Amino acid sequence: MRARVVYDTTYGNTRIIAEVIARELGREAAILNVADLTETSLAGVDVLVVGCPINGWRPTAKMQAFLDSLAPGSLAGVRAAAFDTRIKLFIHGDAAGKISQVLAAAGAIIVGKPQGFIVVGTEGPLAPGQTGKAGAWAAFIGAELRATA
Ligand SMILES: Cc1cc2nc3c(=O)[nH]c(=O)nc-3n(C[C@H](O)[C@H](O)[C@H](O)COP(=O)(O)O)c2cc1C
Repeated sequence: MRARVVYDTTYGNTRIIAEVIARELGREAAILNVADLTETSLAGVDVLVVGCPINGWRPTAKMQAFLDSLAPGSLAGVRAAAFDTRIKLFIHGDAAGKISQVLAAAGAIIVGKPQGFIVVGTEGPLAPGQTGKAGAWAAFIGAELRATA
């Protein structure tokens, strides 16, 4: 099960979450900064987890550019999930849900509900318990993947 966790980050908090998720998904999982993606980076990937900070109520510009590059059907057969990092505001917007919709539109099979992880202020750090929550979310996704393999 070749898994990739594609992430964007400005201050490093989303990378920490991506690392936790990849570790939980196992030996064949790796993280990839969205800025480093090439046309072949996702070739042969079975599982794709995508996450970024919410910026202005939506995914970051770099993540949006990646999402815009996904042709319909390009993720056919890939199982996928999405997450974001966000500040705990009354109205914080959403990135994970929007990412998930684009992945589905590209043909991915969505496993697990889109998930948000909280940072304490713009630069972080992650709020208490968020790495544990990320590990649990990834473990749930891993179980879903095994159950439907
Ligand atoms: C320009 C900018 C816009 C932001 N807009 C939002 C927002 O709409 N909603 C929100 O919850 N957080 C917002 N944030 C906070 C980011 O989500 C937070 O900085 C990010 O989760 C930190 O992750 P990182 O360390 O991976 O960059 C914004 C941050 C910046 C810098």
